[in-house]
Amino acid sequence: MKKALKWIGIVLGSLIGLLLVVLLGLFISGSSRLNKTYDFPPSNLTIPTDEASIAFGKHRAEVLCEGCHGPDLSGVENWFSAGPLGTVDSANLTSGEGGVGQEFQSDEDFVRAVRHGIDPEGKPIFMPAVISGANLSDEDLGAIIAYVKSVPPVDHITHGNNFTPLAKIMLAAGILDKLPVEAVSHEVHVTAPEPGATVEYGEYMVNTNDCRVCHGLNLNGGPFPDPTIKVISPNITPGGALANWSEEDFYNTIHTGITPEGYGLNPSLMPWKDYSNFYDDELKAIWLYLNSLEPLPQYAK
Ligand code: HEC
Ligand code: HEC
Repeated sequence: MKKALKWIGIVLGSLIGLLLVVLLGLFISGSSRLNKTYDFPPSNLTIPTDEASIAFGKHRAEVLCEGCHGPDLSGVENWFSAGPLGTVDSANLTSGEGGVGQEFQSDEDFVRAVRHGIDPEGKPIFMPAVISGANLSDEDLGAIIAYVKSVPPVDHITHGNNFTPLAKIMLAAGILDKLPVEAVSHEVHVTAPEPGATVEYGEYMVNTNDCRVCHGLNLNGGPFPDPTIKVISPNITPGGALANWSEEDFYNTIHTGITPEGYGLNPSLMPWKDYSNFYDDELKAIWLYLNSLEPLPQYAK
């Protein structure tokens, strides 16, 4: 009896020891991915100074950046917060205290963040919108940066990302999505199509306004990017409900958050309030592009 207990003890002890070694290995691997430094060739894009470009940058930022960075771009504390995983504040983009406008040494630091997903030291940042940023043309990104640099300074100290050891282990184990810097192609260089109500411009709008972050790369739905929210986004190809919508239905849905079926879209899941800032031509272009897609079945897990 004593002998048997001793053996059980040895086996259990070894298993626990092995588990700890595996967890430690994953923890080290997750931590080193978050601490890795990246370097990409500078973009050399020019930041425009004319009124029209800054106004266009404001429009683009209202649709794309304000939802996460707040209406005054001063950052949102606990933008992501899940007890066991940690927290992420979105950054203060102004030149007030705690803002990147004070920290950044050059405009290139903005490009590195939005297009590549890294901070001025080259370390990964946790900003899902990089998937859109990587697809912005030089002109559009330049206009957005010009606008961001022009907003009034707001003093607000934010704290970036603070991931727990558990989150680092889950990252290394592949349970959490790849980091944005690991997920995007750094080679792309997009020339924006002429703005207007065309399929091509609609595709550009979809690629640069986060639709694929939530509705999946093929737009037929996908898991919500925040792993703590167990929602599958709907199919927005003609294989989903949109097949029965008119252009006006689409326009009304984005402006009111209510679908033609009478369903109220949750604004904290589907950022329709930000998207109601799209120009009419941009919405029309998105509608044309979505309709040009092959009907796909709803993504299911
Ligand atoms: C989906 C939400 C989201 C959107 C959309 C978004 N951001 Fe961010 N952004 C974040 C979060 C979260 C952080 C903090 C990331 C971190 O510290 O790991 C951040 C950080 C940044 C930083 C700071 C990088 C650094 O070095 O600390 C800049 C600059 C930035 N965002 C610019 C923008 C601009 C410009 C836009 C619009 C084109 C934009 N962001 C859109 C969530 C978002
Ligand atoms: C942050 C995630 C997120 C982003 C970004 C996002 N969506 Fe959504 N969208 C959702 C979710 C989740 C729903 C379902 C919401 C609900 O059930 O309340 C939805 C619903 C919709 C619907 C209604 C579909 C239906 O079958 O009723 C349309 C249309 C839509 N989104 C279009 C878009 C377009 C176009 C973009 C880009 C410009 C976009 N979405 C970006 C998450 C997102």
